[in-house]
Amino acid sequence: MPFLEVKDLIIGLKKRNIPLIDKVSFTLEKGEILGILGESGCGKSLTGFSLLRLFPSGVSYYSGKVLIDNIDLYSLSEKELSKIRGKKVAIILQDPLSSLNPVLTIGEQIAEVLKHHFNLNSKNRRERIYELLKEVGISEPEIRAKSYPHQLSGGLRQRAMIAMALAGEPELLVADEPTTALDLTLQIQILELLKDLNQKKSLTIVFISHDLGVVRWISDKIAVFYAGEIVEIASTEEVFNNPLHPYTQALIESYPREGKIRKILKGSPVNLLQKPSGCRYFERCENPCKEGKNIHPDLINAGKNHWVRCFKYGNVSVFGRN
Ligand SMILES: Nc1ncnc2c1ncn2[C@@H]1O[C@H](COP(=O)(O)OP(=O)(O)OP(=O)(O)O)[C@@H](O)[C@H]1O
Ligand SMILES: [Mg+2]
Repeated sequence: MPFLEVKDLIIGLKKRNIPLIDKVSFTLEKGEILGILGESGCGKSLTGFSLLRLFPSGVSYYSGKVLIDNIDLYSLSEKELSKIRGKKVAIILQDPLSSLNPVLTIGEQIAEVLKHHFNLNSKNRRERIYELLKEVGISEPEIRAKSYPHQLSGGLRQRAMIAMALAGEPELLVADEPTTALDLTLQIQILELLKDLNQKKSLTIVFISHDLGVVRWISDKIAVFYAGEIVEIASTEEVFNNPLHPYTQALIESYPREGKIRKILKGSPVNLLQKPSGCRYFERCENPCKEGKNIHPDLINAGKNHWVRCFKYGNVSVFGRN
């Protein structure tokens, strides 16, 4: 039984029947890191938030399952959900200012999480706050705990947000572009911190980024998204050594190496409100197959736990579209 199982998840617009995330499925073992790659608007964040059953306004759940440690997230009551969120699964975001409360100190915010999930007396709670701040590499925790978010530098704010996310002792952490806004040195420090937490605590992580290099470094496996669906999923090694989907190949080709961009990804992403009925990558594909014009390809097994949504690697049953 995998630790996280997402099965045929469809998330879409509330008022119109338009899926934005389409039949997304993947599994993750405890302590594994899944990288989610794809260009802007392909559905990375919606997928990440759906693992906490959180949606931006105008977006809602249509169907499918999310099982975290065998807990069926979408069958829980609001009350049960509030015990899971923050405790079993937590999220960190690109911009800590949007998830930290500006009128509470860092210590007070972490205390809120601790009060919600644990029954500690105030002395033990204070000790735990210092411990959490130290754990994320914040020195002088007694002083920092009294700071307001705006009094901290960008790197410290990011660490404070991670401490808050860790306060509930989650087993699954969704990290949505957690380092994109940071300069390179801070970016590396935060990535190392996440990897360290993953190794020391067997923290399972879903790591969202559009940066191939970062995802390659941190992830055990990678899901490549295109226009709201997974087009390829495999181990990190497989994705980089043997990319099968033309979109994955184009992403890798367009990643700057030795200061040079080898190839620029042509065309623009599909408008999710007007998705083609056939292969969603058809218009941009350098070598499109004729089936792709009208038929939507399934995600098929191309060996070694390597799945790809492309007619070049196998046949599709027109009836069993995925
Ligand atoms: N509140 C909303 N109302 C309507 N459409 C939305 C809403 N939030 C997201 N979408 C649409 O859903 C799609 C996926 O959005 P999402 O935020 O998951 O993309 P993303 O891959 O995280 O992009 P980025 O790399 O820019 O963060 C986008 O096409 C977006 O326009
Ligand atoms: Mg996003």
